[in-house]
Amino acid sequence: MKRYARITLLLLLAAGFWLALKPTLGARRFTFLPFRWSEFIDIMDFWLNLGAFAILGATVWLAFGSLQQMFRHLCLITGSITLLNITLELMQSSIPGRAMDLADVWAGLLGCVFGIAGAIGLQLLSIRRKTGGTAPQVLFLDQTGRLGGAELMLLDIAAARAADSEVLLFQDGEFRTALENVGVKTTVITLGEEASTVDKQAGLKRVLRSIPNILQLVLQVVQAARSFDVVYANTAKALVIGGPAARLAGRPLIFHLHDIIADGHFSVLNQQALILCANHCAQSVIANSEATKDAFIACGGRAELCVVIPNGFRIPTERSSPEITKSLRTSLGIPSGAWTVLMAGRLAHWKGQHVLLEALKAVPTAHAVLLGDALFTDEDRKYAQHLHTQAEELAGRIHFAGFQSKTMPYFDMADAVVHASVFPEPFGRVIVEGMLACKPVIASRAGGAAEIISHEQTGLLVNPGRPTELTDALLRLQNDSEFASTIAHQAQQTAQNTYALSAVQEKIESVIHQVAEPQELSPVIFPQKSPPCAA
Ligand code: UDP
Ligand code: GLC
Repeated sequence: MKRYARITLLLLLAAGFWLALKPTLGARRFTFLPFRWSEFIDIMDFWLNLGAFAILGATVWLAFGSLQQMFRHLCLITGSITLLNITLELMQSSIPGRAMDLADVWAGLLGCVFGIAGAIGLQLLSIRRKTGGTAPQVLFLDQTGRLGGAELMLLDIAAARAADSEVLLFQDGEFRTALENVGVKTTVITLGEEASTVDKQAGLKRVLRSIPNILQLVLQVVQAARSFDVVYANTAKALVIGGPAARLAGRPLIFHLHDIIADGHFSVLNQQALILCANHCAQSVIANSEATKDAFIACGGRAELCVVIPNGFRIPTERSSPEITKSLRTSLGIPSGAWTVLMAGRLAHWKGQHVLLEALKAVPTAHAVLLGDALFTDEDRKYAQHLHTQAEELAGRIHFAGFQSKTMPYFDMADAVVHASVFPEPFGRVIVEGMLACKPVIASRAGGAAEIISHEQTGLLVNPGRPTELTDALLRLQNDSEFASTIAHQAQQTAQNTYALSAVQEKIESVIHQVAEPQELSPVIFPQKSPPCAA
């Protein structure tokens, strides 16, 4: 729209200058019109000027004006057009046979204001029509059908605006069922085999082979995106496909960044592809922690696109009853009274379950429950098998619970919660879930985890990949139940105050509204220091 308005403006200005300054004009202008209409038109000079400047004002507004800065732009545009009008009048007065006409200046000013008002009205109407007068329509994209942390966050965001959203998944699975259960319309368009095997570490060969698949998917997303106001990519693959698709469909794009874009998490090629797509296609990047944002910027991402919004959580009003937790412990095979730690999350090497198993060798009375499964890659599945072998050395003290959709009883039955990622955790939902359950949490000192926990105040931080440090922290909690209880209560309070879902949903909704405004597809600029997210 802006582009067309700018081209029209150039043509208008050229025609305007020609008409205004042509020396042979004056009384003889419009003599080409029949039946002496020209004289009639001459009398209508005031109205002609008003109309011409209304068209000029509306065109300049559509080319440069923005609703977010309505008053400022209105003054600026009217002022500059009036200046131009006066300059033209002065130039005209130096042409023989023509004189300065103040009425024309007034006509220009009035016309300009009317034109801009009309253009603003049209823009407002078009927002109402697009959004049905309510919320912007959002097309969410996610690459997986499995339920990882990023998908659980999206589930809550989409559920809160189910009537105005649709989710497009590139893989079928329990995520689709969960979305449909909360009333979110969900469509699956499957990636071809080549594209679905491109993972975070994929090299050039695998990426090149997947290109035809990806192009096909981009076109499908372009078609779908045209019926929405905003495209919202929730994962890396969703960005690579949704970014170009949003551009082609002329829709603004939000990228919810749940990953740390750095070595260890992504191959160099994938890092570059993500940054390129985010920088060129996104109007806003929602980072789930400061660490995630910093890594994005360090990798070349545009800082001005970023806003940090942590994950949000429903604050449960009731926890599991003692009977439920007791029967859960029994069903898992935990001896009565055994001090038990919970490690929740998918089984993957970077999540560090092996570090916990290693640390537990020196905590002989402790048991551990590993909640979660290998969700995404063959490598993860091999790692899960390796964990079973490693657990054999711990003589029945490790209990594999598999993936469970209801996790609360698992947190409630534990004496402590452990997070042991060996690479920086982007955010770490399980840490907040442990805090909300009023359990003492031990987490790896890196990434989002180190932002969530204050060492010795709301949990314990240990260096990543150091089993002996983890052993010490476990023994400290096991042997000092008063300290464990104090930090657990402080943690619960902090988590309730900081990560309430409603506050997070509001922040995300406000980003959606900002990018949905009809403006040229330029970034939404966020202040660099984002305020803490309070409930
Ligand atoms: N989770 C779950 N069922 C399981 C294991 C984990 O629902 O069996 C949930 C867990 O409660 C948490 C999420 O999966 O909300 C994992 O998110 P996190 O941010 O900790 O890690 P991610 O897997 O997303 O990297
Ligand atoms: C990703 C990250 C995890 C984060 C989750 C939700 O899955 O690995 O750290 O908590 O997204 O943002």
